[in-house]
Amino acid sequence: MGTEIKNLKDLQNTEYGLKKMFAEAEDFLPLLGTDYVELYVGNAKQSALFYKTAFGFQSEAYAGLETGMKDRVSYVLRQDKIKLVLTTSLEEGGVINEHINKHGDGVKVIALMVEDATKAFEETIKRGAKPFMEPIREEDKDGYVVRSGIHTYGDTVHIFVERGNYNGVFLPGYKKWESHYNPEPVGLKFIDHMVGNVDWNEMNEWCEFYGKVMGFAQIISFDDNDISTEFTALMSKVMSNGNGRVKFPINEPAEGKKKSQIEEYIDFYNGPGVQHIAVATDDIIKTVSAMRERGVEFLYVPDSYYEDVLERVGEIDEDINVLKKHGVLIDRDDEGYLLQLFTKPVVDRPTMFFEVIQRKGAQSFGKGNFKALFEAIEREQDNRGTL
Ligand code: FE2
Repeated sequence: MGTEIKNLKDLQNTEYGLKKMFAEAEDFLPLLGTDYVELYVGNAKQSALFYKTAFGFQSEAYAGLETGMKDRVSYVLRQDKIKLVLTTSLEEGGVINEHINKHGDGVKVIALMVEDATKAFEETIKRGAKPFMEPIREEDKDGYVVRSGIHTYGDTVHIFVERGNYNGVFLPGYKKWESHYNPEPVGLKFIDHMVGNVDWNEMNEWCEFYGKVMGFAQIISFDDNDISTEFTALMSKVMSNGNGRVKFPINEPAEGKKKSQIEEYIDFYNGPGVQHIAVATDDIIKTVSAMRERGVEFLYVPDSYYEDVLERVGEIDEDINVLKKHGVLIDRDDEGYLLQLFTKPVVDRPTMFFEVIQRKGAQSFGKGNFKALFEAIEREQDNRGTL
């Protein structure tokens, strides 16, 4: 875990150490990608309408009383490779309501696609993971799925999904969700990364968890010198699986003159959890303008950001005035550049938000934008009285 490298290409080409570690990781926990992300929400029907209207997700599958599910309702929404599951409870009490009561609406499950969910469970448990769900085989007329699960930071869990023998719409127990309301997609393609906020001094512990238990390697690290403004700071490390399809940056708060956004998150979420889901697009201008039109609020970027940004990032294909109009941020690394933009929190508590990202070669996470970004977030915090 000690070796640090600048980008994914370095990481895959490293002769010594990491390559061996990744080879081992690929042996014990090969991940095919993110399968789905499940949120526990107060009102799944209304959240589903929000994600369809504002984010362009499509109606995919449904489970509830009509499909024989007695205690909960789940709506599955899809846009290209991204699957969101919105789940709420039909009962008083229980784990879903407890989760919502403690955290507000938030991510419960980051599901990862595997070839063998039983092996994924055994290998991670052997390496110290805390079990969440023993391997279970679920089947219907379309085949079978095996799922298993382990705990990660806070009340968040990973579920391993083995769906090689299944042709149904989502999972056994779900039916196709037919809707007369089908807003156009906005061009979101896949989940680029998902960020976890953990508590003070817990970042290294959780990076070690991803290293030891899941065979991930650290690809980038930022300290409070990299990520700080006059008032607030945070630390971050990015963990990646061997093929780079699953990347989890982990943030912890750092001391500043005022309360950082990570601390604010931890306070309102009542502990660690998913801070943001970064979704990739091939055309950020098109995606962001569609989302804005449909009511998504993005963080405001001051005009001054664009005055010297080209000096920092060099030549880009896009018209800077168009990027400015849409408030898109730009950053560059050794391999290329990236365009990114962050929504305001999409829930009532100042907790979870989305990032829209378009990579043009760059494999990093927008370090050059952190300062501008944090200053934008501080303005929001100031409005909330939580800075
Ligand atoms: Fe991000």
